[in-house]
Amino acid sequence: MCGIVGYTGFKPATPILLNGLVKLEYRGYDSAGLALAARNGSVQIIKKVGKIHNLISTVKHSKISPNVTSGIGHTRWATHGQPTDINAHPHSGCGNNVAVVHNGIIENYQQLKDQLKAKGHRFKSQTDSEVLAHLLEDELKKYPVEKAVPQALAKIEGTYSVVIIDQSKPDTLIGARSGGGALVVGLGKGENFLASDVSALLAYTREVFYLEDHEMVIVTPQGVTVLNLSNGKTVKKQVAEIAWTAEQAEKGGYPHFMLKEIMEQPTALQDTFTGRLDPSTGKVILEGAFWSSPYLKQFKKITLLGMGTSYYAALVGKFLLEKYLRIQVEVDNASEFRYRNPIVDKKTLVVVISQSGETVDTLTALREAKSKGAKIIAICNVMGSSVTRESEAVLLTRAGPEIGVASTKAFTTQLGAFWLLTLHLAGVRRAMKPAELRKKSHELAKVPLQMESVLKQTKAIEKVAKEYSTYFNFLYLGRGFQYPIALEGALKLKEISYIHAEGYPGGEMKHGPIALIDSKMPVVAIALKSSSTYEKMLNNIEEVKARKGKILAVIEKGDKEARRKANSVLEIPAVAEDISPMLSVLPLQLMAYEIAKLKRREIDQPRNLAKSVTVE
Ligand code: G6P
Repeated sequence: MCGIVGYTGFKPATPILLNGLVKLEYRGYDSAGLALAARNGSVQIIKKVGKIHNLISTVKHSKISPNVTSGIGHTRWATHGQPTDINAHPHSGCGNNVAVVHNGIIENYQQLKDQLKAKGHRFKSQTDSEVLAHLLEDELKKYPVEKAVPQALAKIEGTYSVVIIDQSKPDTLIGARSGGGALVVGLGKGENFLASDVSALLAYTREVFYLEDHEMVIVTPQGVTVLNLSNGKTVKKQVAEIAWTAEQAEKGGYPHFMLKEIMEQPTALQDTFTGRLDPSTGKVILEGAFWSSPYLKQFKKITLLGMGTSYYAALVGKFLLEKYLRIQVEVDNASEFRYRNPIVDKKTLVVVISQSGETVDTLTALREAKSKGAKIIAICNVMGSSVTRESEAVLLTRAGPEIGVASTKAFTTQLGAFWLLTLHLAGVRRAMKPAELRKKSHELAKVPLQMESVLKQTKAIEKVAKEYSTYFNFLYLGRGFQYPIALEGALKLKEISYIHAEGYPGGEMKHGPIALIDSKMPVVAIALKSSSTYEKMLNNIEEVKARKGKILAVIEKGDKEARRKANSVLEIPAVAEDISPMLSVLPLQLMAYEIAKLKRREIDQPRNLAKSVTVE
């Protein structure tokens, strides 16, 4: 979703800001812009609808003083007003003395706009964000920028992550946050940075800290000061070192981030297990006091919350936790949970699943559960993100940066994290015997290698993709542990190829979807011999064939019966049913990727989608 970058220092600001925006492209956006402190008494704003190369070529044709060493940039994902040049950020007031970039939603913007218009302000855009620029313009007539910003923000209801530049102090950037997505401050020597995530900063610094809600930061080349917006007091921040390398955030020779991330899954899963899974003892080692707290023996119910792919990971998590803990596990879509006065209390363990840790529905659902007394565990890929900061304990998925909008390695590491959680809780609650824990740990330790063997089948998958890329509708079927994988497989295909695809539990096929089946509707059936519902899946396959449907089956290697029944197959090694989701999803990811490639789609940034959905 929208991205923010800010720089103040001694180097030319424009290339640093543009490079930062390029690194934030993966978040999804429809326009981009810059505001530069021009040192002639005004702030120069350049913004353009469409991809960043449009902005870059506009910048090339603009007169920018090479001495400009501070500025702010933004990638916008439209919420209020169409994607246009004028609606793109940064926004200024009536004059060009102040510019603002904003992520989030100003809920009382119409009311503020009416008041400002009555005072003579003229609005250029349809955005809610422009209101803030006009409010600042008024406050700057009375106060210096450090004071004008909190004065203006106090009038806003809603969520924001903002960065402001004002011509009266061109070297000073002011950032502030209250919801509206992350804002990270990067520290350099004689230069400092702001961004909505670290990927924009990796080329320049590794020393960072995140702003909390209701905090404001004053950034100059010489230093940074953080203030609490509620009481104006200075806040001391802990600086962290980012472990990710700049190379990790690049494509590493692959044509798309998504393919790179698919191929990184064995390593990502291995990293997620390393130091935590000990097959010799069957014990899971997790950092932090919460993992040994008596609460883990006492809770009565588990609620899992997430959105998109993270929600589907939660569906797999439910199967695992129920199977081994024999405890009630509820899974809810976070956007539904937050609005329905959910039944959770202090005996409920809530597990929040989020790659980014910034998804607004997930974060709000977390807060709702917390306010009712539940304890929160986060399964998250971004340490320092909002979700991790607001949880009692974090089980970090060590997938590294996931840039492709369609989630892949985050998903399989989330499944790995669910295994760690299940085995840990089963150990603590004595729900599994030590021998059983050791056996499962041994099986899990083999998965990264088994993943590699599946990912080697690129030729077979390319062939299948060619055969199936011309269809317009797909049905994905799975049962039990494979039901969430059917949903995830269908999601991957629709996200990046724009082909209509739906996932269903096999047993539901007769209750509607079967009406659609004919020779033009291929069915992707996950039929694994190790599964307790294997025979039922074979029945599904027969029913599809009887209606001239085409079957692409994901099967266990060597399963002649399923191979005979299907038109085409994709194979995975034979593993235990509960482990198989980490493998069966891989050919479906690769097939979606290959089909999208054949259709020449924008695989890493599919239309209308955002990597991190920080507004409702
Ligand atoms: C967006 C992304 C998905 C992701 C979902 C939840 O829709 O495109 O890939 O699964 O958000 O995001 P989260 O960061 O909370 O896992």
